[in-house]
Amino acid sequence: MRGLIPDSFIDELLARVDIVDVIERRVPLKKAGREWTACCPFHDERTPSFYVSPTKQFYHCFGCGAHGSAIKFLMEYERLEFPDAVEELAQSVGLTVPREGGNDRPREDKTDLYALLDASTRWYEEQLPRSAEAQAYCKKRGLDADTVARFRLGWAPAGYDGIIKALGNNPRRMELLGEAGMVSTGERGSKYDRFRERLMFPILDRRGRVIAFGGRVLSSEQSPKYLNSPETPLFHKGRELFALWQVKQANANLQRIVVVEGYMDVIALHQAGLPIAVATLGTATTPEHTELLFRAAPDVVFCFDGDRAGRAAAWKALDAALPRLRDGRQAYFLFLPEGEDPDTLVRKEGKEGFEQRLKNATPLSDYFFAELAHDVDTSSLDGRARLAERARPLIARLPDGAFRDLMADELEKRTGARATLQTPANAQRPLQRPVAVQRSLVRSAIALLLAQPGVADTVEKPYRFLRLDKPGVELLAELLDTARARPGINPAMLVEHFAERPEYPALQKLMSALVPGEPDMQATEFFDALAKLEREAVVQRKAELMSKQRSQLSDEEKTELRDILSIRISPLPGRP
Ligand code: UTP
Ligand code: MN
Repeated sequence: MRGLIPDSFIDELLARVDIVDVIERRVPLKKAGREWTACCPFHDERTPSFYVSPTKQFYHCFGCGAHGSAIKFLMEYERLEFPDAVEELAQSVGLTVPREGGNDRPREDKTDLYALLDASTRWYEEQLPRSAEAQAYCKKRGLDADTVARFRLGWAPAGYDGIIKALGNNPRRMELLGEAGMVSTGERGSKYDRFRERLMFPILDRRGRVIAFGGRVLSSEQSPKYLNSPETPLFHKGRELFALWQVKQANANLQRIVVVEGYMDVIALHQAGLPIAVATLGTATTPEHTELLFRAAPDVVFCFDGDRAGRAAAWKALDAALPRLRDGRQAYFLFLPEGEDPDTLVRKEGKEGFEQRLKNATPLSDYFFAELAHDVDTSSLDGRARLAERARPLIARLPDGAFRDLMADELEKRTGARATLQTPANAQRPLQRPVAVQRSLVRSAIALLLAQPGVADTVEKPYRFLRLDKPGVELLAELLDTARARPGINPAMLVEHFAERPEYPALQKLMSALVPGEPDMQATEFFDALAKLEREAVVQRKAELMSKQRSQLSDEEKTELRDILSIRISPLPGRP
């Protein structure tokens, strides 16, 4: 995909946008000396270790190590693919993204996919009143017309080409149906409807657009009970929650959100007057889910079956929630009686009964210690030591804050042992910047060049250091060439040129490792490093050539040796 956007355009774009603007629009920044700072948007922290450098056009977090250019920021923050991030940045500065290979189909626009999924939903909705068995099933499950409409429930009829006939009437649309996960491909390449004879539950994204489906069979003889859309460009199930959109529509200001296991559980709770329920989509709760949940409401109640599988799932949810539990956020666990799920319970006990259960849900801290201690005898010293050992690493994963302190206190109360909290990386003092670590000379030269690509302008060719047989010298030469060819290039642009190369991550790291010192000093150090490299190269090569017998040297090598012997190795400039 990337290949379609010319490199020169990426250059122009990165020269045109200001990363401070790009980030500031999404994360409020504060001025800190020559840079800007904020609490890192990519991990939980209370003291800012996220820095944005206007000169380097680069961001870096000293806590979690996130770093990159404006493009990378958009990719990470808005979860965009590379071409979409470029597109968005380009729009923000009024540029149009050119495409290489002019007669290419215009790059696919995801709006086509959304439109197709919306049309599919409408088609399934239209089929529902036409199927007596589907109608009967909805009635049996107690779904009222309003609920059916609110969740846009539908019916995928029997047959292999219902949706194909309805919506796949040209090659482009067939392609979209495939991309959206609506059709499957048989062994001989034939296409057929993925969803057949199923009650359809559309899955909406945070903006209310259909991105996928779940489909339920009507009879217990068929399997699988629920079939979901595959992962598609629009649908990543670890990031989506069923009914989050409906919850947000129903509640302007939500205090509590409830996570249940199934589509029908969510729907039954909403219908019963509790439009505060969402579900994961047949997967364990991920950290991304928990972040979404806490952004929706400060209190999150995880609701699970009381059986073994439910307990295991609950612990996974706890694990995913720990790093997200900053102050003000609370997680609770609600275990249901055997054989019940929220759907059956709310029908039996009504809204009030279920609310009562929510009120009595177990706070995370209680569940945490009960679960860790369930097979240890805390009246013995051994047992308490064991508990402390299990709890410590988990408590250390909590974000820095009052809640973590309370959990540590609680552990001490229960075991007598203090949770020694090695502050996780995110609490590292932002101003204790890593001192220039011992790097190889080549790496320092690269880091210094990345700090100030302008220094390349005065380096003369041919590069004598190329004679040196050391990793990185060729990369250094390439970087110099790239920088020389584009006067005024900034560090982020320079590194972007290497985006498709295996060295890219290393370059990004080198760029973000702050090189101490004032620009003038850095330039001096750079020329120093180059001089040393050249010296080493000459010394190394001279020794190599001299160790060979004269007679064994080729004519070329003889010329080289003469040349080398004539080089006067100047003493290195003294350091201030
Ligand atoms: P359950 O089997 O508990 O079903 O699956 P349920 O929600 O109670 O459904 P009903 O009441 O029988 O209709 C819980 C969730 O697990 C996922 C679905 O998201 C379902 O809602 N699941 C289950 C699947 O993805 N595939 C399956 O075959 C079964
Ligand atoms: Mn159920």
